[in-house]
Amino acid sequence: MELLEAIRTRRSVRKFEGREVEPEKLRAVLEAVQQAPSWANLQCWRFVVVRDAAARAKLSEWSFVESFFAPLGYKTNPAQKAIAEAPVVIVACADPSQSGSLGEQPYYLADLGIAAQNLMLAAHDLGLGAVFVGVFDEQKIMDLLGIPENIRVVGLFPLGYPQGEPKAGPKRKPLSEIAFDGKWGKGLESSTTP
Ligand SMILES: Cc1cc2nc3c(=O)[nH]c(=O)nc-3n(C[C@H](O)[C@H](O)[C@H](O)COP(=O)(O)O)c2cc1C
Repeated sequence: MELLEAIRTRRSVRKFEGREVEPEKLRAVLEAVQQAPSWANLQCWRFVVVRDAAARAKLSEWSFVESFFAPLGYKTNPAQKAIAEAPVVIVACADPSQSGSLGEQPYYLADLGIAAQNLMLAAHDLGLGAVFVGVFDEQKIMDLLGIPENIRVVGLFPLGYPQGEPKAGPKRKPLSEIAFDGKWGKGLESSTTP
């Protein structure tokens, strides 16, 4: 698949077939993550690959954080079922001491964000699907998986074969709203903005 085509057609996948992910495909996804750029090439990321169904059920349960979702009127994390149903959940972690910061802005989140996109695009290219799950009870997950206290959990990625075709993606803001010409707020030439 062409890269731009993959970027355009990737969608968050929250419904999976029961089918296992072949070890070589899982490895290819992890190798794509390994190639991501990172602050000073320190590669602060660490990944725990969770296949055990009982552990996935726990991760699923802990992706609903009431204090976060209740004020939004959500009764579930939209990816909650996916975490239990996907054959694999990749738990993406960071060691903040292995990344930099600009004042109070830590870059381990940027490192992990880029790695996450590599993960999701590689999955898509291989016929798999994934979704970034960013809401969860971090401490419970750390306890379950034996993650040391100096490490942060940044995201959960249920990974598997998508069930059915993904719907058209949620609408994106027009380029005119997100990209400026030389100065904040100045629109780009109309030839650049559709
Ligand atoms: C940092 C981050 C956290 C996210 N957390 C969740 C989540 O907890 N649950 C969920 O269902 N989707 C989550 N998503 C997925 C977004 O909802 C999704 O990417 C967005 O709606 C755009 O849809 P698309 O990925 O299909 O283009 C998260 C995405 C990002 C980047």
